[in-house]
Amino acid sequence: MKVEIVTLFPRFFDSIFGQSILQRACDAGFLEIVVHDLREYTTDKHHQADDYRFGGGAGMLMKPDPFFSVLEKITRTTSKRPLIVFPTPQGRPFRQTDAIELSREHHLIFLCGHYKGIDQRVIERWVDKEYSLGDYVLTGGELASAVIVDAAARMIPGVLGDFDSARGDSFYEGMLDGPHYTRPEVVDGRGIPSILMTGHHKNIERWRLSVSQFLTKRRRPDLKK
Ligand code: 6GU
Repeated sequence: MKVEIVTLFPRFFDSIFGQSILQRACDAGFLEIVVHDLREYTTDKHHQADDYRFGGGAGMLMKPDPFFSVLEKITRTTSKRPLIVFPTPQGRPFRQTDAIELSREHHLIFLCGHYKGIDQRVIERWVDKEYSLGDYVLTGGELASAVIVDAAARMIPGVLGDFDSARGDSFYEGMLDGPHYTRPEVVDGRGIPSILMTGHHKNIERWRLSVSQFLTKRRRPDLKK
């Protein structure tokens, strides 16, 4: 999957994609990341990317024309239209099912907004999906884009060494994952649930499911089941 990111802060992504599983996904050819510096597509001599809002009010808005330029340039050379994602607090909540959907795309473009956002005409002309990460406001779309790329990339078959591990993740089956334990068997005077030592895999599976159901009901009653 090719991922292109349009941003005023291109260096932001260096450390995020240069590490761990995402780095390995790039090295192994599952993922290709291209970051575009929006500043390079500004046309005035001050390279201004933002402007006042029509109608007034505090807060600047990102100007439309640099986005039009960079998106026209990117899409001129692609045969199939990429899916264009705009992370924004005004978007629909981003969920694991969306991560799985995005992981099946061959080409994604992320637009990173700042200040009061992006001129609406960019969204109307170009954007396919608007996602929010939750009910709070981040300083810009860079963190949100990185989160969405991470969540989608790990669902590309082959990116995770052990895909079975993803099956048990929180939200994969619409429920929260339960607690896990490793050696030593006692730490800080605390043991582990005795069922985990029985070797009875069917019962352990049933116990894990019931803990998941209990946690989900208590902490996330909004998730069904
Ligand atoms: Cl996607 N972007 C920004 N800037 N803030 C957010 C968000 C996205 N989701 C929650 N807060």
